[in-house]
Amino acid sequence: MFSRFGAFLRSSIGKKSLMAVTGLLLILFLIAHVVGNLTLYADSDGAKFNAYAAQLEALGPVKLLAELGLVLLFGVHIALGMRAILENREARPSRYKDLAPKGNRTFASMTMSITGLVVLVFLVIHIIDFRMADFSEQGLAALVVERLSSPVGGAIYFVSMAFLGVHLWHAFQSAIQTLGFRHPSYAPAILVIGRVLAVAIAVLFASFPVLLLATGGQWPWN
Ligand code: HEM
Repeated sequence: MFSRFGAFLRSSIGKKSLMAVTGLLLILFLIAHVVGNLTLYADSDGAKFNAYAAQLEALGPVKLLAELGLVLLFGVHIALGMRAILENREARPSRYKDLAPKGNRTFASMTMSITGLVVLVFLVIHIIDFRMADFSEQGLAALVVERLSSPVGGAIYFVSMAFLGVHLWHAFQSAIQTLGFRHPSYAPAILVIGRVLAVAIAVLFASFPVLLLATGGQWPWN
């Protein structure tokens, strides 16, 4: 049974399916992450956000396990994405030959590798910014405010969220289609759900750098 599963994962449809499943689970992570970040708006001194981060920390081994799962999800998704980029390059002597829209192609679907690579660069910066920083003195909320209200930091977060939005615009419906759920009667609904999710996630994440840049690091209700 394991060897059949292994053979499936090595096949091209197996790799596409794994990319779809990891991508969908990453969307769930992004929803949880952005909802958690919304606690920054719950008060004016970041106490609720810091309490939320402390609650996560208190989960101890459970948090560690979730983080390992997250590393695995990002790792598999990124590795398969890189592989697809390299395979497409080999199969396509002229890189821009088939960029012209045909059939269901959209700007978002044709730029998945570029937007994915930008989100990957963002992720590295982001992990260095918050996961590796020592915020024991100032608190996590103050660190977020400091990073996102600096012109360079705010711009990096804002622009990256635009790329994330374009990546997600195509991602959800593509993953659902890869996994074989594409009955014509609910395909339009899946398209709409995917696009609403993409816009909501990108706009909510982007709202933090926009507000902090606009107010010079002050929440408007301070
Ligand atoms: C304005 C946008 C964002 C802000 C303000 C933000 C803020 C944060 C903060 C404060 C942490 C540290 C949490 C902790 O240590 O408890 C964190 C962790 C993380 N963020 Fe973000 N984030 C943003 C967008 C994103 C996006 C778009 C992604 C994915 C593409 C992402 C992926 C991650 C990951 C993987 C972690 C590490 C999770 C962990 O190991 O606990 N973040 N983020």
